[in-house]
Amino acid sequence: MIDTETFEQALEEIGAAVGEVLGSVLPTPGGPEAQLAEAMRYATLPGGKRIRPFLLVASADMFGVSRRSSLRAAAALELIHTYSLIHDDLPCMDDDDLRRGRPAVHIQFDEATAILAGDALQALGFEVLSDEETHSNPEVRLALVGALAYAAGSRGMAGGQMIDLAAENETLAIPEVTRLQQLKTGALIAFACEAGAVLGRAPDRQRQYLLSYAHDLGLAFQIADDLLDAEGKESVAGKRLRKDGVAGKATYVSLMGIDGARRQAELLADQAVGHLKSFAEKGDVLRATANFAINRVS
Ligand code: IPE
Ligand code: IPE
Ligand code: MG
Ligand code: MG
Ligand code: MG
Repeated sequence: MIDTETFEQALEEIGAAVGEVLGSVLPTPGGPEAQLAEAMRYATLPGGKRIRPFLLVASADMFGVSRRSSLRAAAALELIHTYSLIHDDLPCMDDDDLRRGRPAVHIQFDEATAILAGDALQALGFEVLSDEETHSNPEVRLALVGALAYAAGSRGMAGGQMIDLAAENETLAIPEVTRLQQLKTGALIAFACEAGAVLGRAPDRQRQYLLSYAHDLGLAFQIADDLLDAEGKESVAGKRLRKDGVAGKATYVSLMGIDGARRQAELLADQAVGHLKSFAEKGDVLRATANFAINRVS
């Protein structure tokens, strides 16, 4: 397994490379609509951890995909993720004023601009994916567009966000919280791994192992986010914390307490790594990612 220092270096390197692609595909402010481009750039650059792009590139690397392709698909995914964060912070959703260490988009600009920036980032994500620069084969591009649309939509992230909000006034049981988290967070994380397999034309069996890994990882990642809310440091996380309890969010922490949730995240990360056996040393980066997902401080 690659050590922590190497992992963090790799995360930074791929994050920077994805940042370059993002910088080149994002619109430059101009004309009467300049504020929209400004808000899109503000939300996306310099960005957060870039863990989804990292996962996509690391998965694609296992199948020998060119970085030119995987970085563009990774940028598309990050655009969708960034849109989801802008909308998640709106007063009508989680009502948060701090994101990635800076004022949230609706604070820096205004609510209408934040909604439009989210809309436009989502559209741009699909535009990037469908461009032939992402992959020469239109069938591959179509498969990616379909998979990302599924992951972002009502049967994925947006559906999970709906359940998350509805659950503020209800008590959910563990299977329901699991589904909520798999949709709101797991779906985009699963797309990262799936895209690597699609770009690399991975054999079915390997694709299945990778998806099983992503399934467990996505859940572990969201439990770690909920733990961060309960015990992290705002100045390090770059977002408001200690809010889930007050809002009545349904999480593993609300159901089984901090220790129980931590044990669950560890168990899921171990389980995720267990699916990587057949990749031997090629799976090392993904093994290290599972470790990072549950031990991160931001
Ligand atoms: C935050 O995602 C929202 C969740 C789905 C948990 P990240 O923790 O990946 O946020 P950034 O992209 O690093 O800011
Ligand atoms: C957000 O989950 C998941 C998204 C789809 C954006 P949270 O609401 O817990 O994410 P944070 O804590 O605000 O980053
Ligand atoms: Mg939320
Ligand atoms: Mg939130
Ligand atoms: Mg959270």
